This record gives sequence, structure tokens and C-alpha cells, in this order.
Amino acid sequence: MTISELDETVKNWQLPEDGTLLDRIEKMILPAVIEGRFLASPTATVCGLQYHLGGAQDTAELASLAAITANDSVLDVCCYLGGPAIQLAQSFGCRVTGVDLFERFTIAASRIAELARLSDLIDFRVGNATNLPFADGQFSVVWSQCALHHDEGWLKEFHRVLAQSGRLAITFDIRRENPDKHSPKWRLQDIITILQELGYSVDHAEDITERDIEIGWKALDSKLSERENEFAAVLGKDWVRYAHQEFAKEIKRMRQGRWGNGRIVAKKL
Ligand SMILES: C[S@@+](CC[C@H](N)C(=O)[O-])C[C@H]1O[C@@H](n2cnc3c(N)ncnc32)[C@H](O)[C@@H]1O
Repeated sequence: MTISELDETVKNWQLPEDGTLLDRIEKMILPAVIEGRFLASPTATVCGLQYHLGGAQDTAELASLAAITANDSVLDVCCYLGGPAIQLAQSFGCRVTGVDLFERFTIAASRIAELARLSDLIDFRVGNATNLPFADGQFSVVWSQCALHHDEGWLKEFHRVLAQSGRLAITFDIRRENPDKHSPKWRLQDIITILQELGYSVDHAEDITERDIEIGWKALDSKLSERENEFAAVLGKDWVRYAHQEFAKEIKRMRQGRWGNGRIVAKKL
């Protein structure tokens, strides 16, 4: 779909009446998500508005660990459709800037923020995590879920745009005890060491793999079962079967110690 076709699609979005704001947004965007207008993997399709394991619960937990308040100015790197940005602005009244490599996501995210009446707190920019289009020390919080590339250049850029005494709040995949050729490069301890060398105090570092099996993969599998008809109507029953298999495969790989997830909250000294 071209950008002007996407523009047309999002212009026609209207928020349904009932439910929480996040549920209403999810319902509004689901047809476009299922049609593959954004990212088309089974995980992305079933995740919907928040494309990381644990969805809104993960966002709420990370916000609590990072002690987000209304005074914060948060940068969400790799913001996708802006679900976490919406949740943070709505929950805390903080300012949030989302940045993503792809314009199609920032166009959709901006329209979602407009319909949620949160445009005065949130804006979205196209940009690359390796060369963020922001001034040094501009944000009190740099935030990123499930997107960190194992590349020190990313962490250096996060550090550059973070204010003195600001907090870094990130979740990411990690290497674990039984890696294979598909496993991520860095263990949790590798990321802690890099951050300490950059000049952070690492206040919270946790392996959240077990949690992500439960509130991540198993929750996605349940959501897929509950909405099976909606997914199958567009993508077919074979796709639904394939998606269940993919989620089961990732649970198995996590349990085998092939990979996992971690989170860190650290303060820039
Ligand atoms: C797994 S999604 C994470 C989505 C989002 N953080 C969330 O929790 O909903 C990864 C996102 O990173 C974006 N991305 C990938 N490489 C990037 C880069 N170099 N700079 C900025 N964004 C990037 C992708 O476009 C995608 O939206």
C-alpha cells in the first residue's frame, strides 16, 4: 500500500464508543493490522497496538520501574503504532515523542493520537535509532521496548539524547544459557556492562523470560484463540494454525534457553 493510500485509510478511522481507550484503539486498527498494512508476522498481527511481549502490562511495569511522572519528556525509540506512547501520556500526563524508521507507522500513530485527543502531549517523527534526529540531553527518559539492536551505536545515541540524571528504560531480547545460531548476541550482563561503561548506574536489571512466556506468548496464543474467527476470515485457517505453531515454537526455544528477554532501568550519572 502506498503512503497516500495509507493516509486515506487512517483518515477514515473513527474510535468505537465502548471500552478503555487502548481497547477502542485496538478495535479500530485491527482490520488494517490483519490486512497486513503494517507489519505482517503472526506476532505483530496478534500483538496489534503494542508490538512487544506483555502488551499494556509490560508498559505499565516498565513505567513504574522508571518512576514516570507528568514532568517527564519521554522519547520512545522504535515506537511502531505508538501504543506505549498513548498509554504513557494517558496514564501520567507526560510528554512523549515517538520515533520510528518507517513513515507508515508514524502516520498511523499520529492519527491514533489525534483520535485519542492526546496530540498536545504526543508527537511522532521518522528517524533512525543509530542517528536520532534530536539534540543532546533533550529527554528526561529514553524508552524502548522489544526493539534494541545489539549494536553499541544504539546505546550511545540513547545516552546522547538523554538529559543528565535522566532514566533509560528498555526491554530487549537476550542470549541465554543454551544459544544456537539464531540467538541474540548479548546476554543481560553484557548490556549492563556497556551501560556502566557509558556512565549509567543500573538501578534495575532483570531477566523477564519466564514472565514473557506467561504474559507474552501464552497470552498471544489465547488472544488468537479468542479472536480466531476474525483472523481466519481474512488470513485463513492455515494462517491461524501456523500462528499457533509459531507461538509454541518460541515458548519451546525460550524454555530450551535459546533466547529470552530482559529489562533495565538505568540512570545517567
Ligand atoms: C518489535 S517493533 C517494537 C514496537 C514498539 N516498541 C512497541 O512496543 O509497540 C520494532 C520497531 O522498530 C522499528 N525499527 C527497526 N529498526 C529501526 C531503526 N534503526 N530506527 C528506528 N526504528 C526502527 C520498526 O520499524 C518497528 O516499528
